[in-house]
Amino acid sequence: MVKDPEAPESREILRRAARILKSGGLVVFPTETVYGLGADATDSDAAGRIYAAKGRPADNPLIVHVASADDVSRYAVETEESRRLMQVFWPGPLTVVLPARETIPSTVTAGLPTVAIRCPSHPVARALLMEVGIPIAAPSANLSGSPSPTCARHVADDMMGRVDMILDGGDCEIGLESTIVMPDKDGGLTLLRPGAVTPEMLRTVTPKLRIAEAVLGQLPEGNAPLSPGMKYRHYAPSSPLVLLDGDCHARQHYIEKQSGNIAIIGYEEDLPLLRRSLTEERLFSLGRQQDLSMQSHRLFTLLRDIDKQGFDKILAPLPPTGGMGMALYNRMIRAAAHCIVHLPKD
Ligand code: TXA
Ligand code: MG
Repeated sequence: MVKDPEAPESREILRRAARILKSGGLVVFPTETVYGLGADATDSDAAGRIYAAKGRPADNPLIVHVASADDVSRYAVETEESRRLMQVFWPGPLTVVLPARETIPSTVTAGLPTVAIRCPSHPVARALLMEVGIPIAAPSANLSGSPSPTCARHVADDMMGRVDMILDGGDCEIGLESTIVMPDKDGGLTLLRPGAVTPEMLRTVTPKLRIAEAVLGQLPEGNAPLSPGMKYRHYAPSSPLVLLDGDCHARQHYIEKQSGNIAIIGYEEDLPLLRRSLTEERLFSLGRQQDLSMQSHRLFTLLRDIDKQGFDKILAPLPPTGGMGMALYNRMIRAAAHCIVHLPKD
């Protein structure tokens, strides 16, 4: 457990982690979003080991983590727009896609001419990046297709025996992966994946913000998304997840009519009503309805925990799309493979 990266025992652990990375090994480390599965981003063979450990398709590129915005120009071609975004949101949960330089091997970019770069704010991630002195390529540290890990237990469930070291930094604060943006040629910005840096926050820096089609909906068959990861069914629990679009009473009414071994994810406020007709073992709280940060923090843990219990189906509310809601909405529609039931409104 690396709680205080400055403590002597933690420094020794970080030194060991840095040695593993420099010799081409794999180290899992905490970030403020989710845990990352790291390797030397300048070493093609090391990056190749990430794909093997995750079972990740070779055409889905990795995010390169750097210690500071000053490092970016070595690996990517910056724009005025990207510099401003980094000034405002780094270190933090924002990834910027820029034209790649030759210092980044094509294993990392999956052959694309661009590279995704981010500077995390988690103290352990920062301490590791400083110690190792090289950029770290890291996707989320889950097996391909399962929810991103937000604590070391999730990582161990998926990655034990597949990596050289796991740094345990406790629970990830945000719980959903970083926001990904790509500067456009016209000075605007395209949002490729929503996260804790919300569209509203991005617009304060770049008013011209386009939301990529794959963020809020399903791409028509055969259309390639701007971000390769968006085409894969992600965060998929093994029991089908169905999202209910309606208020608390409409959801309650629908749920009461269902039969079978069904898990219900509800808002904290819904639970008293739901408890009247359902047993406690089937009810799971996502957090208070207005508390989108708590819901984001809990979502992946809930999906993993519920999945272990072998329900026939999972029902959950369809999130709103404003603010942090857009990230929740994006992850949940994909976990549900776009299965949404629109309930009658009063
Ligand atoms: O919060 C995060 O971003 C976490 C932590 C570990 O930093 N990482 C993460 O990585 O979520 P991953 O690999 O699970 O998701 C990266 C996404 C994928 O959907 C990938 O397709 C996209 O970033 N991506 C990477 N490089 C890209 C590029 N050059 N152009 C467009 N999309 C890119
Ligand atoms: Mg991932």
